[in-house]
Amino acid sequence: MFKVGLIGCGNMGEAIVKGLVRSKTVKSTEIIVYDLNPERIKYMVEEYNVAGSSSNRRVVENSEIIILAVKPKDLENAVAPIKQFFKGKILISILAGTPISKIKSLIEDVFVVRAMPNTPALIGEGAIGITLEKENSQIREKVIKLLSPLGVVVEVDENLMDTVTGLSGSGPAYVFMFIEGLIQGGVKCGLNYNQAKELAVQTVLGAAKMLKETGEHPSILRDKVSSPGGTTIYALHKLEEKGLKNAIISAVEEATKRSRELSK
Ligand SMILES: NC(=O)c1ccc[n+]([C@@H]2O[C@H](COP(=O)([O-])OP(=O)(O)OC[C@H]3O[C@@H](n4cnc5c(N)ncnc54)[C@H](OP(=O)(O)O)[C@@H]3O)[C@@H](O)[C@H]2O)c1
Repeated sequence: MFKVGLIGCGNMGEAIVKGLVRSKTVKSTEIIVYDLNPERIKYMVEEYNVAGSSSNRRVVENSEIIILAVKPKDLENAVAPIKQFFKGKILISILAGTPISKIKSLIEDVFVVRAMPNTPALIGEGAIGITLEKENSQIREKVIKLLSPLGVVVEVDENLMDTVTGLSGSGPAYVFMFIEGLIQGGVKCGLNYNQAKELAVQTVLGAAKMLKETGEHPSILRDKVSSPGGTTIYALHKLEEKGLKNAIISAVEEATKRSRELSK
């Protein structure tokens, strides 16, 4: 019996296997994978030393926890024909905008956990929202232990999964845009691109780590670096005037709304 079975070896499926193997949470020999594309299975076997399966049915029959990482449009094809083999198993679905009820309408006899990772999970720095179909502390512990190597895991009610998508799911793109602005500002004021990029990336990384390690409210740390009449308070005034924080709040809200629309 394998500990983890993966259905769909695309970008996210690979990221998950990579995180599990790299962190030694699960041994590569305890993972079995399947994809419609045989080339992807071959690649996963060669790259991560996992077992390749000949079908989704074999993955489900032989795994304790199954991770479903196909596109939402492929859900039914991937699971409906083999629904009877899920009995007593845990299914972690990472399908965006796909409610637990939709999955349960296709497979009744399975425990479903919905998870929403983001792309930094590729390097073990993801932010992952999860929802369990119902309270079960043993399954929660198992799932959190399994997903933690991919990043921080936060449990939310299912009705907030669209908000998770709007904040952390799409969030890396907002941060990339902010970093781009820092770089362009640096270049405009005389730095070359490489110098500006190195300084900008480390500034965001350092500020985020500081926030995490001190546990302080962002406004407290912001006030601490704003000396009277200094450069920072002048810059902060300009950011307020241009509406940076309002723009970010609206971005999260818009993405949340769009995620809700796409789920329908
Ligand atoms: N990318 C992200 O940032 C992100 C973040 C959070 C959640 N997600 C979710 O993660 C899921 C996967 O996304 P992705 O970007 O990794 O997609 P992807 O790269 O297209 O990977 C999906 C893989 O599943 C395969 N597949 C399709 N039908 C299958 C079936 N019946 N049985 C087995 N394998 C099958 C596909 O093969 P073919 O190409 O041959 O069809 C493809 O290799 C999506 O549901 C998405 O909503 C993605």
